[in-house]
Amino acid sequence: MPATTLTLPEEIARRRTFAIISHPDAGKTTLTEKLLLYSGLIRTAGMVKNRKGRAATSDWMGMERERGISVTSSAMQFPYKGTIINVLDTPGHEDFSEDTYRTLTAADSAIMVLDAGKGVETQTRKLFEVCKLRGIPVLTFINKLDMPGRDPLELLTEVENALGIQACAFNWPIGSGKEFAGVIDRRAQEFQLFTRAAAAGSQKAELTRYALDDSAADEALGADVAERVRGELELLEIAGNEYSDEAFLAGQVTPTFFGSALTNFGLEPFFDAFVELAPSPSARPVDLADGSEGKRAPTEPFSAFVFKIQANMDRRHRDCIAFMRICSGRYEPESMVKHHRLGKSIRLARPHSIVAQERNTLDEAYPGDVIGLISRDTFRIGDTLSLDGGFEHKPLPQFQPELFARIEPTATSLRKRFDKGMKNLIAEGAVQLVFPRGGSDQLVGAVGRLQFEVLQYRLEDEYGVTTRMDNMPYTCSSWLIGDPDKFQPPTTALMATDLRDRNVVLFRSEWDKQTAAKNNPDHELLDVA
Ligand code: G4P
Repeated sequence: MPATTLTLPEEIARRRTFAIISHPDAGKTTLTEKLLLYSGLIRTAGMVKNRKGRAATSDWMGMERERGISVTSSAMQFPYKGTIINVLDTPGHEDFSEDTYRTLTAADSAIMVLDAGKGVETQTRKLFEVCKLRGIPVLTFINKLDMPGRDPLELLTEVENALGIQACAFNWPIGSGKEFAGVIDRRAQEFQLFTRAAAAGSQKAELTRYALDDSAADEALGADVAERVRGELELLEIAGNEYSDEAFLAGQVTPTFFGSALTNFGLEPFFDAFVELAPSPSARPVDLADGSEGKRAPTEPFSAFVFKIQANMDRRHRDCIAFMRICSGRYEPESMVKHHRLGKSIRLARPHSIVAQERNTLDEAYPGDVIGLISRDTFRIGDTLSLDGGFEHKPLPQFQPELFARIEPTATSLRKRFDKGMKNLIAEGAVQLVFPRGGSDQLVGAVGRLQFEVLQYRLEDEYGVTTRMDNMPYTCSSWLIGDPDKFQPPTTALMATDLRDRNVVLFRSEWDKQTAAKNNPDHELLDVA
């Protein structure tokens, strides 16, 4: 964005930094594209095509050429009706990895996209758990209403039961599938009917609005349909959940919207509600030097934390890019800042802007923004940088791996280099390590297959070690709280410890894990530590 004359509090107040959580194919990419369409930055949607089948890159690299959009492979920034939006990339599909989870720790809110035909799916559930743990407020968009889907009330109930959050419908769909005609905006108390001509998907949908009691709506919809939805709405007024900003910000209620990203139905009202409801950057919890806890307000001097390190997959460059989220203050390139872990001052380089067609895109940045800096080994995941020092942003949580493998160098002569490479890559957070009890072989653990591919690639590329990988049959794991000797695991489970000597149990199935939890009421199984 071009430099502005706004004050720091004004810059903070206009920022919305969020991530989209969804199961693959629910419509995250489509919704993101449409947000760009409605921001006026692109004229036609549909440019992020070859996503499936591409290599390890961000979902958004295809958008980078578009004018005025600043894309790092980790976040995308653009203006929307007076606000500055930062969408954090939460790769799904084959790019799903621990980074996807970690990225959520950099968000101030999340949009949960559900497929109306499928409801709450596994990956959404996992990502939602992270939001819950971090107290991130979540808005819900129930997508694909243009297709035959499930009953809206049933979907709301599923959100509540599966995720343990109250769902408050902000709009209500009028029919679904071919009959999907629009929504009722509950706050405005009006019918919003869509023009089918917009269904090409690349143009904004035109809305026709009628007050709830306007008889013109009966004509437009057919009297029986209009009456039916009025009846549904009355029911919702009685049985539905109350909304309050407080409950939303505390993660107890999720404002829920129905629509269709592909046909643009219900999008603009949703985006408008999003920028109205979603919080701007606020104070973040920190650990102070004396061991106590504190809060860092966004108006305090510059601070940031690293939430993602991306290895440069280009063989000619060994450098990594460290992505950091600014939590407080104004970022100015070339300034000297304190690096908490290293205990020294460093000069912040000019951010490596992967695109920036607008030259001055990253000349300054504010709380909520993401900057990517080139690093050889200056930065690790979780590092805190600040102008004044004396505190550290809360450490990033570790997530329960779901894939395990044994990895070995292909030749004994490579062992030394292998050990060195593994040590560095583990420290960087590329994969996790677990040590089976009573055995000597270490296993690597990850939440997405991509992490293993990156590990093997980097061992070869950076350390000259070719490796062999044997996948293990475990599909989930937990940290075990309680006496490990008294824990009774299923016969197929594996007891292990992690790098920090915490007990871990590896299970072959989710069912095994649940059975183990039931059979060991005195123990606790944690998914995030
Ligand atoms: P993702 O990023 O969450 O994985 O989902 P994405 O947006 O790529 O959408 C997955 C598929 O669902 C795409 O179809 C997309 O066009 C479709 N889709 C998204 N929103 C809607 C909607 O509101 N209604 C309907 N009917 N479909 C929707 P595809 O066939 O896999 O890809 P494409 O060839 O259409 O791009």
